[in-house]
Amino acid sequence: MTAAPPPAEAIIDLDAYRSNLATITQQVSPASLMAVVKADAYGHGLEQIVRTAVTAGVGFLGSLDIPTALAIRGLDLPDDIDVFAWLHSPQDDFAAAIESRVDLGVSTVAEVEAIAAARVQRPARLHLKIDTGLHRNGASESDWPELVRAALAAQDRGAVELRGVWTHIAEASAEEDTDAMRRFDRAIALAEGLGAVFEVRHLAASAAGFQRADSRYDLVRVGAFTYGIAPGGGIGPADLGLVPVMSLVSRVSEILSHGDQLRAVIPLGYGDGLPSELAGRASVAVRGQRYRIISVEVDRLLAEVGDGIAIGDAAVLFGSGTAGEETLQEWADATGTIGEEFVVRLGSRIPRRYVSD
Ligand SMILES: Cc1ncc(COP(=O)(O)O)c(C=O)c1O
Repeated sequence: MTAAPPPAEAIIDLDAYRSNLATITQQVSPASLMAVVKADAYGHGLEQIVRTAVTAGVGFLGSLDIPTALAIRGLDLPDDIDVFAWLHSPQDDFAAAIESRVDLGVSTVAEVEAIAAARVQRPARLHLKIDTGLHRNGASESDWPELVRAALAAQDRGAVELRGVWTHIAEASAEEDTDAMRRFDRAIALAEGLGAVFEVRHLAASAAGFQRADSRYDLVRVGAFTYGIAPGGGIGPADLGLVPVMSLVSRVSEILSHGDQLRAVIPLGYGDGLPSELAGRASVAVRGQRYRIISVEVDRLLAEVGDGIAIGDAAVLFGSGTAGEETLQEWADATGTIGEEFVVRLGSRIPRRYVSD
């Protein structure tokens, strides 16, 4: 039995990824760039993205969790590449992470103690996290001195090495971000007063890091922008000098007549991660022309098309916009979400194909 052809492919343009890395590196300089590769590199495929980032000179990778950090270490990258994991569960293999020189974000005394108790030959490299208002982990201001003291005590015992201090911000409004920065500054000053010395301080992700010099500190953790996914609200990637990395390309598999209307069937749907909210709000490009998506079903979607469309024609769902198709940003603005939602949800039935000149 021959396998059915995939309903679509996600084409990943590694040159676009490299170009975005270069643009962002220049923009955030003299701060360094941490390329965030969580969620299978935002659906783009961890291994290829990591190898491309490292070859392009990125020295810090953000993995989210320890299993992903260990998968990155399994790629046998040069020794001086740093990998940062910050979301832990009690089942995580802290010993393996420490042996593999994974930098660990910590928010609680319990985490510091679990890490310090791991039986390993080398000290764990810690980045202490203060919550500056996002409430997505991080020590509260009242718990902060205790966290710093616990880390310093573990450092005195040789079990850990304090490397960084960090927080995460909402990037929803300039005022909130400024408040978060002031809380971050206070937390750093307090920790330093207790004797902590930090090599790296990091707070910003894509949007703030790109736009606000005062948010960059020593390191900026960038995910969305490296993949050419812009912040929304009408701001597209081209406005920022970024290039979308992923294009989603399918084919017209059937053309149906409906009264005097023609409808093209595109064989992928919400079973592949496309949200049903696209119906009536987004389009698909065939032969350089946009056609409105009118329904999204589990394994197909329908677009209202005109004459001159043939079965087998390429149907571009999103991409760089250069062949008439919408960008993720347009999809995100049309459906009231953010561009990364589409790429991280894209199902495993859709192969990723890597292209590069
Ligand atoms: C802690 C942390 N830093 C940075 C990022 C990157 O964010 P963005 O994709 O907006 O650049 C993320 C992603 O969610 C994150 O969780």
